[in-house]
Amino acid sequence: MELKDDIKNAEVSAEAIAKVKKWNDEYFNNTGKKRKFYCLTMGCQMNAHDSEKIIGILSRMGYDKTESEDDADFIIYNTCCIRENAEEKVFGKLGVLKHLKKLKPDVIIALCGCMMQEDFVIEKIRKSYRYTDIIFGTFNFHKLPELLFTRIETGQQVIDIWKEHTGIVEDTGYIREFPYKASVNIIYGCDNYCTYCIVPYVRGHERSREKEDILNEIRLLAKDGVKEITLLGQNVNSYGKTLNPPVSFAQLLREANEIEGIERIRFMTSHPKDLSDELIYAMRDCDKVCNYLHLPFQAGSDRILEKMNRRYTKEKYLNLINKIRSEIPDIMISTDIIVGFPQETEEDFQETLDVVRKAGFSTAFTFIYSKRTGTPAAVMEGQVDEKTSHDRFNRLLDVLNEGIYRIHQDKIGKTYNVLVEKESSQPGVVTGRSTDNTLIHFNGSTDLIGKTVAVKILENKTFYLIGERI
Ligand code: SAH
Ligand code: SF4
Ligand code: F3S
Repeated sequence: MELKDDIKNAEVSAEAIAKVKKWNDEYFNNTGKKRKFYCLTMGCQMNAHDSEKIIGILSRMGYDKTESEDDADFIIYNTCCIRENAEEKVFGKLGVLKHLKKLKPDVIIALCGCMMQEDFVIEKIRKSYRYTDIIFGTFNFHKLPELLFTRIETGQQVIDIWKEHTGIVEDTGYIREFPYKASVNIIYGCDNYCTYCIVPYVRGHERSREKEDILNEIRLLAKDGVKEITLLGQNVNSYGKTLNPPVSFAQLLREANEIEGIERIRFMTSHPKDLSDELIYAMRDCDKVCNYLHLPFQAGSDRILEKMNRRYTKEKYLNLINKIRSEIPDIMISTDIIVGFPQETEEDFQETLDVVRKAGFSTAFTFIYSKRTGTPAAVMEGQVDEKTSHDRFNRLLDVLNEGIYRIHQDKIGKTYNVLVEKESSQPGVVTGRSTDNTLIHFNGSTDLIGKTVAVKILENKTFYLIGERI
């Protein structure tokens, strides 16, 4: 996708971009080759969207994209620290890059994203990963051109981490991964402080974008052929509370629903504690808002929910689901679940299984609790041992998968409008999603990518369905 000039930003230094571009142009004039970047993104959709912005900036500086690290002149890892294994992966990959840097000393290695907001990570990089070149965090990725130019001029490692950014960087510009669907930030940061979670410490306090900025961005995307948008935030239900005058998320949805050209509106993530009736009604009334909701419940035991600081009970969560289903009967609901939170007993875990049996989830993202330094849960007594957590995790999957199979079995023989996303791993088969976010494969050509077609469901493969175009 080409970058649109009309969604460019003033805060990304045009001067610094021009300097790096000149440096890249000179290289091209001398060698006949363009410098290439490789970008690896870990973590959630928020990070994926930040990468789209970073890629936009790199392209403006004259870099081409490559899918091969060995072939790249600029390597960037956009990191995640939600669980320990995400961090271990980064350190593992950095070890491999050390060899690459020996072979190709001119390669520039950049690290950014959530993990870089942790003090111990920066210390470790300063000590043991001195061959990395540019390190920045979640609040200042728009400074990449300046940081890169400083690195080029001085040849020194450049580390620039901001502890917080109360403002919002508008209109950085971005290059979308998909032509027909796009993510749109609506609220940054998180103020919920669930006791296990690192996000509030690495993404800062909640900051909502102005409603008109969001709507204008969606209008531009619609003009550019986008059919599906996903409104992004760690807790979209908190959207607009701090704006002057305040705006509700439901209001934003209703106005986004009016934008011509957009066919589907999705959002993530919602926190059960403040999912209002107003929002349920907006979802029910707006024809473009998809009949799908991601509503993490994390744990079924009230005792554990309280220790997690989730601020709802099992009963409240199940009642909420019933209410949503009574207003939007064909809605599909997915969730996030953590097992092995400190002090979780077998009895507590049974409450989690009970929610899974009663709620009827269409998908779930399941995690073994991972201790995050600096969060309250990390120093709680009664950390659960690995063997018990794994055992609960496996039993949870059994119950979940049985439920997912049953939910999908109901779809056999029915017809769904599928927005085709890509060719599946099998040639001649394409894959896409219905409005309720079910993954559907069917025989079809790649010309269908980006189009919405009617597909009748024939077969249930638990995590996806097979159908035929009608
Ligand atoms: N803002 C979203 C979640 C963002 S993180 C929300 O509140 O719903 C995505 C998921 O990662 C969380 O829902 C949780 O299930 C999981 N998670 C977060 N911290 C974790 C930790 N320390 N260990 C294991 N899983 C964790
Ligand atoms: Fe983390 Fe809780 Fe915020 Fe989600 S709502 S990002 S789980 S602190
Ligand atoms: Fe997302 Fe991971 Fe950061 S889940 S907000 S990329 S810690």
